[in-house]
Amino acid sequence: MFAALGRPAIRDRRRVEIFRRVSILPRMDDSNQLDELMACRLDDGRKAVTPCTIVIFGASGDLTIRKLIPALYHLAVEKALPNPVRIVGFARREKDDAAWREELKAGVAQFSRSKSVDEVVWAEFSANVSYCQGDLTDPAAYQRLAEKLASFGVPELKKNLLFYLAISPSQFGAVVEQLCGANLLKRDETPGEWQRVVVEKPFGTDLASALRLNNELTRFAHEKQIFRIDHYLGKETVQNILMFRFSNAIFEQLWNRTSVDHVQITVSEKVGVGGRGGYYEESGAMRDMVQNHLLQVLSLIAMEPPVSLDAEAVRDEKVKLLKSIRPVRDVSKQVVRGQYFAGMVDGKLRNGYRQEEKVKTDSNVETYLALKLFIDNWRWSGVPFFLRTGKSLPHSASEVRIQFRPTPNVLFAAKCGLKLDPNAITLRLQPNEGITLRFNGKVPGASLQVRPVRMHFSYDSEFGAYTPEAYERLLLEAIAGDATLFIRRDEVETAWGIVDPIRAGWDNKPLTNREFYSAGTWGPVAAEDLLAPTGHVWRDPQPTK
Ligand code: BG6
Repeated sequence: MFAALGRPAIRDRRRVEIFRRVSILPRMDDSNQLDELMACRLDDGRKAVTPCTIVIFGASGDLTIRKLIPALYHLAVEKALPNPVRIVGFARREKDDAAWREELKAGVAQFSRSKSVDEVVWAEFSANVSYCQGDLTDPAAYQRLAEKLASFGVPELKKNLLFYLAISPSQFGAVVEQLCGANLLKRDETPGEWQRVVVEKPFGTDLASALRLNNELTRFAHEKQIFRIDHYLGKETVQNILMFRFSNAIFEQLWNRTSVDHVQITVSEKVGVGGRGGYYEESGAMRDMVQNHLLQVLSLIAMEPPVSLDAEAVRDEKVKLLKSIRPVRDVSKQVVRGQYFAGMVDGKLRNGYRQEEKVKTDSNVETYLALKLFIDNWRWSGVPFFLRTGKSLPHSASEVRIQFRPTPNVLFAAKCGLKLDPNAITLRLQPNEGITLRFNGKVPGASLQVRPVRMHFSYDSEFGAYTPEAYERLLLEAIAGDATLFIRRDEVETAWGIVDPIRAGWDNKPLTNREFYSAGTWGPVAAEDLLAPTGHVWRDPQPTK
């Protein structure tokens, strides 16, 4: 068949002819256009969103002020919200609509990505915002909420309802029960209307509590109505992992144990625990970051191609991947904990974790975690995946480095040995979003020198500085009813199943000296030991220029 098609140029022209006949490509005389960067649209550009009311439980909380309302406001700026739409805040504190709107406006000015409020947009947006005072466990409060919804003229605003639970997980069950009792949430689908429940992490503290929570929620809401948030999935660069892998023939061929030596996933944070000591004492890095964000990134990086882009097809593959992670049996060889002590960050002295507010002075909670995982499937057998995350590290960066196998030990490798840098692709999730391919090249000149060079793709230079907040995308997806970017029940349970045995393996053992690190450094020395036996080293993200 190839012989019949002849030389590549002729072969290409024939393909163009064939494609043109089915009207995909422009005419031959327009062939210059073939090199244009044309986008292929997979959806209708805008999600189909129907008029609805968004009810936020926890209306006075940090999440609402810092993330949810700024995200909804920016969706309003972009005219992406349904029309009409209403936003109702539900919380215990006494206040009226005007007072809540003022709080929200100040939040938009301080925390939104634009850090400013357009008065015209705000006037229109805030006219649709109102407040409902009530206790989460008081049936009368839900009656008041029902009356408020009933007062909205447009029928869809009373029955298309997005309930956002920005509250503690211990209250999820009570709220959905009350919503059902007030006939606001119907578990059985009624044609022409919808109700959905969005829940925030942490989704449980271990497998047993996640199971309990799932059981509580699914007594009153169908799994299809539950949207569990992991805000990492709302990040453009995280969504791009699937595009990068499955819309490019060149990379996917290398994406396996034959070509890949190992993978490093780093989510480093310069911030310390700050005012969140109370929460962090219960969560630590494992529950706060690994069980959710890091395992989500890992599953997208390593999963098989889904059969379609439907939510269930994508989530099936993620679950399959999580299930093929080999259980960690020897915690001491595969996991390193760490905790920061006082040190310099950005030229300023940062307190140690044990000196943070609401933290026990002898706390053994991990602020750093490094893991070595294996995926027992056909594609990845034998390839180590190194994951690490930590607070009070030198800078904030999330990236995935796919490091390829070294060349055979002849020619350049024979002469340079370990000095010959192995090829790598780095997906920079944030900041400085983009992708870098690192390979070797000749240093110009009469002497024979080889050196790594880098090829960069930067979102900023390619697409401009358009960086929507993860919550904008996630809220829109939940309104549109697309669950692809949300965590399914079995996904969250499988993830707990991976991390629980590791936590149990620590068995309340106190941290050793080798597990402490000075704030502003790349983690404890023990983290090096994780890679050293196989001759690997951590590749630290580079600071943003
Ligand atoms: C949250 C964690 O889920 O993610 C925080 O609770 C962490 O501790 C944050 O700081 C990191 O998110 P991002 O988007 O800043 O990388």
